[in-house]
Amino acid sequence: MTLKDRIVSREAKVAVVGLGYVGLPLAVRIAEVGLRTHGIDVNAARVGRINEGVSDIGDVDSADLAPHVSAGTLSAHTDFSVISEVDAVIICVPTPLSKTRDPDISFIVKATESISPFIRKGQLFVLESTTYPGFTREVLGPTLEQASGLTAGVDFEVAFSPERIDPGNERFGVRNTTKIVGAMTEGGGEAVQALYETFIDTVKVVSSPDAAEMVKLLENTFRAVNIGLVNELAVMCHKLGLNTWEVIDAAATKPFGFMPFYPGPGLGGHCIPIDPLYLSWKLRSLNYQARFIELADSINTGMPTYVVRLVQDALNDAGKATRGSKVLVLGVAYKNDIDDYRESPAIDVIDLLAAKGADVDFYDPYVPKYVEAGTEHEGIADLSELESYDAVVIATQHKAFDYGEIVERAQLVVDTRNATRDIQTNRDKIRLL
Ligand SMILES: NC(=O)c1ccc[n+]([C@@H]2O[C@H](COP(=O)([O-])OP(=O)(O)OC[C@H]3O[C@@H](n4cnc5c(N)ncnc54)[C@H](O)[C@@H]3O)[C@@H](O)[C@H]2O)c1
Repeated sequence: MTLKDRIVSREAKVAVVGLGYVGLPLAVRIAEVGLRTHGIDVNAARVGRINEGVSDIGDVDSADLAPHVSAGTLSAHTDFSVISEVDAVIICVPTPLSKTRDPDISFIVKATESISPFIRKGQLFVLESTTYPGFTREVLGPTLEQASGLTAGVDFEVAFSPERIDPGNERFGVRNTTKIVGAMTEGGGEAVQALYETFIDTVKVVSSPDAAEMVKLLENTFRAVNIGLVNELAVMCHKLGLNTWEVIDAAATKPFGFMPFYPGPGLGGHCIPIDPLYLSWKLRSLNYQARFIELADSINTGMPTYVVRLVQDALNDAGKATRGSKVLVLGVAYKNDIDDYRESPAIDVIDLLAAKGADVDFYDPYVPKYVEAGTEHEGIADLSELESYDAVVIATQHKAFDYGEIVERAQLVVDTRNATRDIQTNRDKIRLL
């Protein structure tokens, strides 16, 4: 029986390596369609919780996970030996940037080393972690070959399929977000298409893993560049005395040729601030400077400083110095209504304000505390002393905040998200980005 036959007949077993924001929803979805699914993660505490039917990923309800665990369709492991039993291995480990803002592929390398002793003929390996074009073909395939003594495209198949998960998105999840797949051989393409079609509504096959890698980087670069554009628009509107949000919303009434993007305190999350730099890094090695990416990165990473400048100016207008002022940052998550604070610009805003001598607190119902460079920072427990802050900075537009009450009680509000758009009274207290 071929791999494709095993997939089509639902006899195939799948391993998902890395059970985070991407891997856990994927593993649950695969188990949902009845394929025996093994999750593997180096985080023993997370593995333990999953085996108790408890999810710590916002997009996965424990109620959706637990039935598959009790039915024995889904189990989690720290031990990689289960790889030898499965037909397909999907790798979803982190791909961050190093301190020098270059690709850090160490998690993929580590995961591959752990997988290697258990590779056998006939398996399919799919990488979902974002990476630069060429990585799957030039690095992952040869590494698996070297470790196993087998040949990619002959003894086993290798493919790339970019993850498109959008945490907190209630409309589009794993099942109904079209999935791109690109394999090293035609047979690999058929196998990976067959696998993903068992649990995803629409699968689009591209000609190579490199093309699939580039698709992901185009998508994220598109966002990073457009957000860079509107962040610069915000700076320009400020200089011109215009309301950025009014301008964007009015432009968005055009029914064709325009798509609204909104400014903010900077880029956050595991993808948009990072992935385009994988592409510019790769292009640098080919002696080409990816100018749009680098310009957008420079504008976007400058936004926390710009926001701090707005806070300083607003305090100054109120006759107060930043040093010694009490500032409350509302929202630390990188986007609304989720608990993920990776790369969150709110943390940069907090650090920059503190560096200016402000006495900074934060409040986020989703992120009661965060860890940065090994140090834990704890937020305030509630907004009972809101009036005591000289300035309040809205960094994340959580729906849980009552913006009317915040504006009424705060002395001064710097709103980086236009979260106060519907508030009619006390508008003189509000400074918009
Ligand atoms: N979070 C998103 O919104 C998102 C969206 C699209 C793409 N991606 C990409 O998907 C990949 C995974 O991101 P994520 O957000 O799920 O990360 P995550 O940090 O939430 O999860 C990664 C998991 O991998 C585990 N892990 C680390 N090293 C491992 C190893 N050697 N073996 C096994 N497990 C290991 C970690 O313990 C963690 O549980 C990244 O490349 C990211 O760029 C993420």
